[in-house]
Amino acid sequence: MDYIIDYKEIIEQAPLDEPARQYYFMDRVRELVEIRKLEGYKAHCMVEVMGCQMSAKDGEKLLGILEKCGYTVTEDDWDADIVLFTTCTVRENANQKLYGRLGRLKHQYEKRDGMIIGITGCMMQEKDEVEGICKHYPYVKLVFGTHNVYKLAELLYKSLVTGKRTVEVIDDTKLIVEDLPSDRKFKFKGSVNISYGCNNFCTYCIVPYVRGREKSRNATDILRECEKLIEDGCLEIMLLGQNVNSYGNDIPGSTTFPELLKAVAELPGLKRLRYMTSNPKDFSDELIEVMRTHPNIERHVHLPLQSGSSAILKRMNRHYTKESYLELVRKIRKAIPDATLTTDIIVGFPGETEEDFQDTIDVVKECRYDAAYTFIYSKRTGTPAAKFEQVPEDIVKERFDRLLKVVQESSAENENRDLGKVMEVLVEDVNRNQEGYVTGRLSNSVLVHFPGDKSLIGTMQMVKLTESKGFYYFGEIA
Ligand code: 5AD
Ligand code: SF4
Repeated sequence: MDYIIDYKEIIEQAPLDEPARQYYFMDRVRELVEIRKLEGYKAHCMVEVMGCQMSAKDGEKLLGILEKCGYTVTEDDWDADIVLFTTCTVRENANQKLYGRLGRLKHQYEKRDGMIIGITGCMMQEKDEVEGICKHYPYVKLVFGTHNVYKLAELLYKSLVTGKRTVEVIDDTKLIVEDLPSDRKFKFKGSVNISYGCNNFCTYCIVPYVRGREKSRNATDILRECEKLIEDGCLEIMLLGQNVNSYGNDIPGSTTFPELLKAVAELPGLKRLRYMTSNPKDFSDELIEVMRTHPNIERHVHLPLQSGSSAILKRMNRHYTKESYLELVRKIRKAIPDATLTTDIIVGFPGETEEDFQDTIDVVKECRYDAAYTFIYSKRTGTPAAKFEQVPEDIVKERFDRLLKVVQESSAENENRDLGKVMEVLVEDVNRNQEGYVTGRLSNSVLVHFPGDKSLIGTMQMVKLTESKGFYYFGEIA
C-alpha cells in the first residue's frame, strides 16, 4: 500500500510545549504503525536495560511511550521490530557489554525488514562512543542521550518516515518533562525520580558528565506521582536520585530530603519506602530520625564507602574521612539496630598504597557490612582521576581478591541474624530455580524463598525464616 506523508507539515503542526508535543508524535507514530500492521508489520518492541535503577526507570518510560505508539512488548529480540538499549558507562566493562549485544543483533537486523535498533542512556552522552557507533554499526538507527529520553516518539517518527539514522544528543538541559506514559515492570512496586544529575564530581566518576547538573523535581509533583502509584496498587516505592541527600539544594527554600521522605512515608497505604543513593557526606541526623520513626521505610542503609583511607577519599573528592564515616555508621547502628548496611568499594584508585588499602580493610571489618559491592577502579576518560598515576594491574587484582575475602567473612557474621524470626515479606516473583516456591524481600532487602504460587506475587506475607543460606533465607508462611 502506498501512503504519502508530508513530513514537513506534520512537524510544523506539532505543539511546541512538552509533553503535548510528545503526545502528538505518539499519535503520529501510532498512525504509521497501524498502516504498517496492514502490511504484516508486527510492531513488537523490546527495551534492554543495561545500567542502574535510573537506567531501569528510563527503560520503563521508553516502554510506556512505545506502547502508546502502538507497539507490543516482547521478551525475545528475534521477534522485535524495535530494540532499544539504555546503556551504562560507569565502568569500562559496561561499554563492552553493549558492543557484545550489538554484534549479536546484526544478524537479526539483516533478517528483519524495517527493524530499528536504538541506543540511549549514559554511554550515548560520550561523544567518542557515539562517533564509534555511527562509524562501525550502520544498523543502529536511533541514538539519543539521557537528557532527551522523553523525546523518543518524536525521534522515532523521524526515523520511521525518513528511513535514515536519527542521532540527537544534547549536553545538558534544565528542562524536566513529566507526565509521559510509563510501563512499570512490576505492578506492586514502582520508582519515582526525585532528582536528575549530580553535582558532586567525585574524581573517578563519569556520572556528572553524562547525567548533567543536579536538577531536583518539585516536591508536590513527586508526592502526586507517589499517590498515583499507591492508587494504582503499588505497595513499595523507591525514590531515585544520584545523591538523594542533596535533594532540593538547587531550589531556594525547597523541601529537604528527610522532609520529603517523611511526607512520602506518611502517604496512606504505602507499605514500603526505599531510596537510593545516599552519599555519606550529607547523611543527616534528621534522615536517621525519619527512618527510625517510620517503620515503613526500609530497614536498610546503602552507604557507599568507596575507600577507607582519608587520603584517598580526599583525592576522590568525597568530603568525608575514615573517622567521620565510622562515626556515621555507629550513629545509624545505634538508632536503627535492625537495619542492614551495604556499601560500594573501589579498589585500586590511582595512588592507592598498601596502607590506604589496609584502611579500607579496617573499615570493612569494623562495619560488618551485610553486603559490599566491590569494583576494580576503571579509568573514565574526561574525569580528573584518569590523569592521576594508575596503580599496576597485578597489584589491584591481588588487593581485590583480598578485599573480597574480608567482605565475605564479615557478611557471613550477619548470616543468621534473623533466623527463626517471623518477618514481613513482599513477594516479588515465583522462584525460577525451585518449583512450588516464591521469592520475596524483607524490609532490610534480604531475599526469602518459601513455598507458594504465583497468586502470592505482589502481596505481603508473614514468613518464618527457617534456614539461612548466607545472602538469603528459606522460610514458610507463619
Ligand atoms: N571505577 C570503578 N568503580 C566505579 N564506580 C563509579 N565509578 C567508578 C569507576 N570509575 C562505582 C562506585 C559507585 C558504583 C555505582 O560504581 O563504587 O558507588
Ligand atoms: Fe546508572 Fe551511572 Fe551507569 Fe548511568 S553510568 S546507568 S547513572 S550507574
